[in-house]
Amino acid sequence: MKKLVASLAAVALFASAPALSKPKKKKNEPATPATAVTPTPEAAPEAAPEAAPAPEVAPEIQAVISYRHTQMKLAGGHMKSVKLIVKAGVDAQDEILQHTGALELVAGNMGKYWPEGSGHETGLEDLEAKAEIWTDAEGFAAELTKFHEAAQALHKTAEGGDNAAILEALGNVGASCGSCHDVYRD
Ligand code: HEC
Repeated sequence: MKKLVASLAAVALFASAPALSKPKKKKNEPATPATAVTPTPEAAPEAAPEAAPAPEVAPEIQAVISYRHTQMKLAGGHMKSVKLIVKAGVDAQDEILQHTGALELVAGNMGKYWPEGSGHETGLEDLEAKAEIWTDAEGFAAELTKFHEAAQALHKTAEGGDNAAILEALGNVGASCGSCHDVYRD
C-alpha cells in the first residue's frame, strides 16, 4: 500500500513538472519591455506575489520545442510498440497499423517544428538541437525525407502483415533516426 501511495505521488510529481526546464539566466538580456508598468511600492498590494522573471524565450518558441520533443518521443513509442507486438508477441496485432500510421504522420510533419531561434540561442537546458539544423538546412531536410520515406515503407509493409518484413522496415526507420541524430542532435 505504501508503495502504491509513493508511486502515485511520483506520478503526480511527474505530471506537474513543467514541460521544459526554466530558461537559463542570460547576460545582456534586454530589459523588461518599456510597456511593463512597475507598481510603486506604495501601490503594490501587501501580499503581492513575487514578480515573475521576464520571459527570455517567447512562449510560442518554447511550445514548439516542447512539441517537437513530444513528437520525437511519440515516434520512439510507436516504434517500440510495433516491436513489442511483432517480435515479443504482445497480443495487439490489430493495433500495428495505428502505430505505423501515426509514425508516418509524425515523420511527415517533423520538418515543421524547427523555427529559426529555437536552438541553443534560447539558452534552454534539455535542448539538443545543433546549429547545423539551420546552417545546413538542406542536409537536415534530406534526413527528414529519409525518415518520412522509411516510415511510409514501414506502414506499407505492415499492411502486408509479414512480421519478418515489418521488423526489417522497422530497422530502417531506426537507422533514419540514428542517422539524423548523429549529425543534428548534441
Ligand atoms: C531529421 C532529424 C531527426 C530524425 C529523423 C529523428 N530525430 Fe530525434 N531528434 C532530432 C533532434 C535535432 C533532436 C533534438 C531536438 C531538440 O532538443 O530540440 C532530437 C531529439 C530526440 C529525442 C529527445 C526528445 C526530448 O524530449 O528531448 C528523442 C527521444 C528522439 N529524438 C527520438 C527519435 C526517434 C525514435 C526517431 C525515429 C523514429 C527520431 N528521433 C528521428 C533529430 C531527429
